[in-house]
Amino acid sequence: MKKRGLPGLEAMYVVATLLMGLAALFVVAMMFIPPDWFDRRDLSQAYVPGATAGWTPAVPRDQPGVREIAAGEYEAVIHAANWEFTPNEFRVPIGSRVTFKVRSIQDFHGMALVGTDIALSLLQNDIAEASYTFDDPGEYLFVCSDYCGSGHASMSGKVIVQSGGS
Ligand code: CUA
Repeated sequence: MKKRGLPGLEAMYVVATLLMGLAALFVVAMMFIPPDWFDRRDLSQAYVPGATAGWTPAVPRDQPGVREIAAGEYEAVIHAANWEFTPNEFRVPIGSRVTFKVRSIQDFHGMALVGTDIALSLLQNDIAEASYTFDDPGEYLFVCSDYCGSGHASMSGKVIVQSGGS
């Protein structure tokens, strides 16, 4: 009578062969699946950080500009494109808290407020935001912090913080 090991060696060969066959089928199948199959985001929609999960339609109220939303609080909606920020210069009084809402309206860009830890990265149509309180007067440079092509180095703007009076 033939002795059989546990588990049977033959059974293991069969299972191993089946698994390899399945793996080979999977690899071949992947070759025929287009690369964008798993990423079906609609780029006409923008993801708004902090909003409910998912993609939120970009809305026209996000027009570029600086608005005072409460005493000493400003909202700066800044559009980034090749290769400029709009607006690229604005003034706020000393002590102002500014919420930057930066949106890339063309390709990808970054926005870093020099001398602070604010650095935003934006794909096209992304909106990202960060707030900063300007306690010292002076000029604060903001620059594009993601390499975006030939005009990258000249892509900048500034916040002018006024000590009051003027
Ligand atoms: Cu825009 Cu670098």
